[in-house]
This record gives sequence, structure tokens and C-alpha cells, in this order.
Amino acid sequence: MTEVTGRTDQVVGVAAVQVAGAVADQDVAAGVGEEAVVAVEETDRSELIEVPLVGLGYRQPLAEWISTCPSEVHCLEITAEHFFDHGQARLEWLSENYPLYVHGLGLSLGTPGPLDAETLDQFTKVVSVAKPDWISEHVAFTRSAEVDLGHLNPVAPTMRSLQTLVDHARELMDRCQKPLILENVTSFLRLPGDLSEPEFLNRLCDQAGCGLLLDVTNLLINARNHEFDELAWLRELDHRHIRQLHVVGYSQRGGVWHDNHGAAIQDELFQLIAEVVQSTFVSAVIVERDMNFPPTDELRRDLSRLEDVCATARQRSVHHHG
Ligand SMILES: [Fe+2]
Repeated sequence: MTEVTGRTDQVVGVAAVQVAGAVADQDVAAGVGEEAVVAVEETDRSELIEVPLVGLGYRQPLAEWISTCPSEVHCLEITAEHFFDHGQARLEWLSENYPLYVHGLGLSLGTPGPLDAETLDQFTKVVSVAKPDWISEHVAFTRSAEVDLGHLNPVAPTMRSLQTLVDHARELMDRCQKPLILENVTSFLRLPGDLSEPEFLNRLCDQAGCGLLLDVTNLLINARNHEFDELAWLRELDHRHIRQLHVVGYSQRGGVWHDNHGAAIQDELFQLIAEVVQSTFVSAVIVERDMNFPPTDELRRDLSRLEDVCATARQRSVHHHG
């Protein structure tokens, strides 16, 4: 148990220190509120008070714009698989110019048995070039023992799958020597199990010594499709684990909510982000747009609004906790 606790502290400590430095660097360019900076100097509750960095998932159609280092983009998340076979020079440039996070899609941490050795090797190589602040994957499986299913599938919240995920999360951290955060996914099925989803995530983080990447869009979509209260779900979660958020606009077809990653962020998602930032240690918020890319002016507006929402929420948390 000592080892597990040590790892949790390491995740929190590393992220807080790196974010503190990154925010200071971004103050001038991004216009982070002066009040927030003063508040940091006046108290040592720095994890709660730092305004989270706001950034984007790095995608090819955005590459040219991102290479101009727009002031609204404080940080980037790259998808490891996009750099498995090429792009090393680009990755080095991104690493030198942005706080970077490496997100994996295909390690399939929820599949019982050993992790796929080749995928793990490639992922580790990307991490060694990108030098990210942390790495992330999903609470999901993408392949069975025999077949690659090609998309993220939910894991039943059972004690057995908990052990599989804990073992794989530890192995991944050992290989990459980086803090790991794991992401909640959407699912059209509610799989029965031994634990509620938040309790499953709490135990996963406690036992593996990892953190959480909370996708607020996935949470809202699941809450609407399966008719549960997203705020009650959030209250069940141990807030100390949440280090990063994902957000992107949802879509609706025939009464079903979808995460097709192609729409602008809706108002209720901004509200949900405010709720989470006010009460957790979130260090970064990443907009995860994969298609229907709008003009960059529109992305700039969304990022600025996100920054404002985060700064206001952190101010509220300072008053609330201070
Ligand atoms: Fe996501």
C-alpha cells in the first residue's frame, strides 16, 4: 500500500509543479487573471487555485495554425497512434513549444492478459520523444484476445476487470515513467457489475496510483442516454483524482446523444466544466475536436470562453475553500 500512496502523491505533485510553471509562462501571452496569480502567492493551496491550462487535441487540419503558437492555446494533447510511424521532428517541435500530454487509443487496458507488446513499445517511444507532463488512456478495451474491435468498448465494473485495469495501469506507468490518467468513455449499454461507475473509478485510481481524465461530454451523454444525474455521479467521485478534462460539443439523432467530436461546445458543457473546476484539482482542459473544424476564430472564441469559465470557477473555489 505504501507504494500505491507514493505514486498518487507523485501524480499530484508533478502535475501541480508543472502547471504552476506553465501558468506563469502563459500569464503575459494569455492574460490569465491577475487576481488568480495574487491568490497563488497568498496561499499554498496552489493545486486548487491555479487556473487550469486550456488547449486542444492536436490534429492535422490544425497543424499550421498551431505552429503559429496562438495565445489562446496554452497546451496540447497529442494522440500517440498518430505518431507511431512518422512525425518525430514535428513531435520534438511541439514538445519544445507547448506543455504536452500523450493520449493513447489502442493499448486496450481493459483486455485480460498481457498488453500488446508492439503497441506498448510504440507508445513508449512516442512518450520518450514527446516528454509529456502526463500520459492518458481509457477505461475501456479495444480488442478481445483474438480480434481488434477498432473502437472503445466499456468495461463492466466488476472486481475482476478492476484488477485487470490496475495491473495494466501500473505496467504502463512503469514502462513510461510518467504519471497516468484514465478516461471515462461513453457507452450505449449499461453493463452490470459489482460497483457503481464512480466507485469503480475511485478504486482504480487508489489501487493503481493513477489519476482521472474526466471527459465531461462523455459524462453528459451517458447521463442523458441512461437517465441519471451527472452531478450526483460527480459527487460520488473522489475529486482529488481528477487532473484533466476533455470537452467537445455533442450531437443528437433520434433522441440519442452522440460523441462524434464534430460540434461546438454547448452551454450546458461550459456549466458542467465550471462545476468540476470549482471543486477539483483539474490542471488542464482539452477541446477534443476531430472533424467539422470551424474557422480558427471560432476555436479562439471557444478557448477564450473556456479560460474565462475556468478562471471564474477557480476564483469561486478560492472563496469557498479559502
Ligand atoms: Fe475524450
